[in-house]
Amino acid sequence: MKHQHFLAGCLAIAATAFGIGAAGAQDTIKIGLVMPMTGTVGAAGREVAAAIKLYMAQHGDTVAGKKIEILLRDDGSIPDNAKRLAQELIVNDHVAILGAGTTPSAMSMAPIATEAKVPTVVMISGTSVVTERSPYYVRTCFTLGQQSGIIADWAIKDGSRKAVSVLSDWAPGAEAGKVFEQHFTAGGGQLLETLKVPLANPDFAPFLQRARDLKPDTLFVFVPAGQAGPFAKQFAERGLDKSGIKLVGPGDIVDDNDLAGTGDSLLGVVTAGFYSAAHPSQLNKDYVAAYAKATGGKRANFISVGGYDGMHLIYEALKKTNGSTDAEKLLAAMTGMSFESPRGPISIDPDTRDIVQNVYIRKVEKKDGEPWAIEFATFQAVKDPLHQAAK
Ligand code: PHB
Repeated sequence: MKHQHFLAGCLAIAATAFGIGAAGAQDTIKIGLVMPMTGTVGAAGREVAAAIKLYMAQHGDTVAGKKIEILLRDDGSIPDNAKRLAQELIVNDHVAILGAGTTPSAMSMAPIATEAKVPTVVMISGTSVVTERSPYYVRTCFTLGQQSGIIADWAIKDGSRKAVSVLSDWAPGAEAGKVFEQHFTAGGGQLLETLKVPLANPDFAPFLQRARDLKPDTLFVFVPAGQAGPFAKQFAERGLDKSGIKLVGPGDIVDDNDLAGTGDSLLGVVTAGFYSAAHPSQLNKDYVAAYAKATGGKRANFISVGGYDGMHLIYEALKKTNGSTDAEKLLAAMTGMSFESPRGPISIDPDTRDIVQNVYIRKVEKKDGEPWAIEFATFQAVKDPLHQAAK
């Protein structure tokens, strides 16, 4: 007994001398990431995690004198899991900041983040309403509305008049379809039909057949990250790549992670997107090279930059607060911030806490034997149109 007591005393003295123990805990800032590492949208979580790991390898794991510790949790693409994991990260692990993933998970975590006043960086969700669900939410990825109105206007200018929408049947698909329809019909086009494809394990063939039978001049398609490859395959198998029907959409349908493997099937497809691995800035060239090196040769994609920039936002905000994790101070530091991302210049709208970014019109072309989304027009500093409409 006596011996144990003595040992404990020695350890306490040693801990004090080395500045660890209770004070040490305060010198570490824990960031809890609740991401879909497996399940329906599992590819997206893995891409965000890879980009965050890369960011920390490049910028170190200490900011404003504090050590950054990442606690990565897999929600399995199931919103109830996300809620439970967020709660555990806050209550048991005392995280100061959260990272949120897809729309359903980010929605279910929102009341938890609000109640505990934990600043949360939304890194995958593309649904406008998500940032309105919690005053502690800040988004570094994208919205579907941001891209879908711009591609509708472009299609009209390019002569499209009769469109069919093929949409993955969940919230981001609904928003993509809604904004596309608003712009397309306002421009004098007609939306012949909206076809909704199940999110999990989709078979696109019957929907593509139905779309073709309706004889549109244009097909507007949204499929989420991880599904561009299977979609492109079935699109070509149905002969739609040679049908004369124009395929357009937000950037998701030419996801760089899948694009390299789509051969000739998406050549000529025009999308409005915020990120292409072919974006010609030096920062992006460096990012694409570093991401490939860190992931065994994968192409950086639009999902990965949401994580990379999310981590940059957190680092820069902590520098501004001098390492303080006070929620109001962190939010004040994050909102209004602007910086150069691999995608181009971005900022966080101080009114909506949402991302403001360039949207590029891109055409799929072959370069060095592989398809890439090549930017040919730029819309600068685009805000989410649905927040604007709600005001
Ligand atoms: C979303 O969670 O809203 C989401 C995920 C993947 C996408 C687009 C949107 O490609």
